[in-house]
Order: sequence, then structure tokens, then C-alpha cells
Amino acid sequence: MKTTVTIIKADVGSLAGHSFVPRPLLEVAERRLSEAVETGLINSFYVFNAGDDLELLMTHFKGESSEEVHRLAWETFKAAAEKAGRLKLYGAGQDLLSDAFSGNVRGLGPGVAEMEFEERRSDPVVVFAADKTEPAAFNYLLYRVFADPFNTAGLVIDPKMAMGFEFEVLDAIENKTVTLKTPEESYSLLALIGTTERYMISRVWRSEDHEIAASSSTTKLSLIAGKYVGKDDPVCLVRAQAGFPALGEILAPLLHSYLVAGWMRGSHWGPLMPVGLKDSRCTLFDGPPRIVALGIQVADGKIASDDEGRPLIADLLGDPAFDQARWEALELASHLRRMGEFEPARLGPSAMEYTTLPQVLKRLEARFKQPSS
Ligand code: 13P
Ligand code: 13P
Ligand code: MG
Ligand code: MG
Repeated sequence: MKTTVTIIKADVGSLAGHSFVPRPLLEVAERRLSEAVETGLINSFYVFNAGDDLELLMTHFKGESSEEVHRLAWETFKAAAEKAGRLKLYGAGQDLLSDAFSGNVRGLGPGVAEMEFEERRSDPVVVFAADKTEPAAFNYLLYRVFADPFNTAGLVIDPKMAMGFEFEVLDAIENKTVTLKTPEESYSLLALIGTTERYMISRVWRSEDHEIAASSSTTKLSLIAGKYVGKDDPVCLVRAQAGFPALGEILAPLLHSYLVAGWMRGSHWGPLMPVGLKDSRCTLFDGPPRIVALGIQVADGKIASDDEGRPLIADLLGDPAFDQARWEALELASHLRRMGEFEPARLGPSAMEYTTLPQVLKRLEARFKQPSS
């Protein structure tokens, strides 16, 4: 039987602004998902937060886009948003853009990444979740992991990876996808995914056998809502080892910080900062944008757990090996913030269209006159 790993996330309210998800909301989610394990809907789960985003990691046998599993996530978010409302937390229900569930959370606000696969003898998976940025923030990371032999030695050394990988790329404006194969089409792939405002990697497969290797969320809240409602803080699942990139190759791109769109009011370029779960909160200028990574083993349809049934979670980016990237992120943050509201610290005009900036510019419209010659 195939196992499905699903992560669904939403910002349903946070503490003192857009900083982090407080314990009472995590507890609402833990209760709901424990009940779903008891009824057999899902097999196991882990609830955590990436900054102000509530993350529901689940394993089950219902396949991708399962109405039952998506409904469970939706109802869990609704319950947590109600709790946030009662506590008067900030932005209660922020990412729940619709009142009615219609079979799948896609298009309703929450972000989703899912992978269904036949389990190998041992199946390690890395779960990435980031706050104050957008799905295209993973373009750089996924390219390095699956297409760059200077990052991933396995592309050169492991015969199972020698044929490369296939990347599905979503054009968020046209809502179309294209699949490109590396190494043959790596330049064309870069031509697309370097434009992070428009193109995002949604899936990666191993070329040799079309086995799923990675899956990333691709929500564009602004395109759903037609206005700024928070950034589409993304999630991504990556399979590791034995014919896929090693755990350390999946984490190696985070030796250095890099710039992503998001940060304050979803309107600025900011350095991505790898952090452990205890530092998964956004503070400085509502950031810097942060990424956490959890290592899990998928075993017999479940997240491998201890004798008490607690899932075994490796909090990968809390390691001192990422201290340098954290310092780089602060250096970059300090340079960028000196620039205030001047581009390129602030995003360009097309990305700003979905923020509140156009309302401010509209007020000035009537005052523009032809220049006197
Ligand atoms: P409000 O304070 O008006 O909600 O907006 C600022 C903000 O935090 C959006 O990021
Ligand atoms: P979130 O998308 O994480 O809610 O952040 C909103 C924001 O505008 C922060 O400044
Ligand atoms: Mg928020
Ligand atoms: Mg967020």
C-alpha cells in the first residue's frame, strides 16, 4: 500500500502581530488530529509552527488531495482560528479566505504539499516550512539540491541519480505548468525559476523511474484574493538518501543565506535565515524570513515514533553548522534595512500591486500635472 505524507498550513492567528503561533492554538490542532488518528482517518501527525503559520504534518493511506484529509485540516484551522478569535490574537483566521469548504483546501488560502509513494526499506523525508516569504523561495534551494553537482555529490557519484531529475514549474500568472529535465535543460529551467515573482517549482521526480522526489506548496494568496492578505508562507517535502540526495545535500544550500521576497508587509527582499524550532518566530522588521527543517522517517504509513507514540523529529537547522548563515542573514538584513523604502530593498511595482501601496498612490493621483516646459 502506498503512504501519503501531507503537510497543510495556514496562518490562523498569532501573538502580538505576525510573530508566532502560541501554545493554545497548537493544542487545538493536536487534539483534533489525535481524534483523527483514533478514528483511523490519518495514521500519525506532528503539529508545529513556522513563525505565525500553523503546520499540520500528517501521514495516511488516503492518497493526495483526499477530501477527508483536507476537510480535517480545514476544520482544524477553523477551530484554531476560533480559539485565536476568543483570545483576540492578531489576524485570527487570516489565511482562511472562504467560509465554505469545497472538497480541497487548494484555492481556499491554506498551503499544501503532498507526496504519495511506496515506502522503501527506510524512507527519510525532510519537511521544510518557511515564514515571511513565498513558495518561489524554494526555487533556489531545490535547484541546488536536485540539479547542481557542486551542491549534490550524488548527482556525480550515485548511479541512481545519474539520469538527473525532472522539475514541474508553475507559471502562477497563466496558471500553467511545464516540466523540464536536468541536466539537459538546466539553463532553460534557470531562465524560468530565476523569475521568482512568477515561476515556482511545484514537484521534482527522479528521471530514471519517475519516482517522486519533492513537492512544494504553490499558493498565491494575492491571486486568489485579489489583494494582499499575507505572504504565501511555503512548505516543501523532500525525500532523502538511497537514490535521492543525502540529508546533508538537502541541507547544504543553507550553508549561506539568500534573499527572498516577503518580510515586512510582504513587501521587501529579505535574507532567509535557517533556524531551529525554538527560534521559529519572526521579530526584527517582522523577520528576517525564517526556515525550519524537520527530519522524519516514514515507516509503515506513520512517522516513526518512540515507545509512547511520540513522533521522532530531527530539528535539523538548530545545528551550529548553520550559525554562519544566520550571521550572514543578519549582515544582509542590516544592509537592506539601511535603505528603508528604496528599491531594491522594497519589492518592485508589480509585486507591490497587491499590497496597500496602490491605495496610498491613488490619493496622489489628482495632484499630478503636466510638467511646464
Ligand atoms: P495592519 O497592522 O494594518 O494589520 O498591517 C500591518 C501588518 O502587520 C501587515 O503585515
Ligand atoms: P504573514 O504572511 O506571515 O502573516 O506576515 C504578514 C506580514 O505582513 C508581516 O509583516
Ligand atoms: Mg500573519
Ligand atoms: Mg506567516
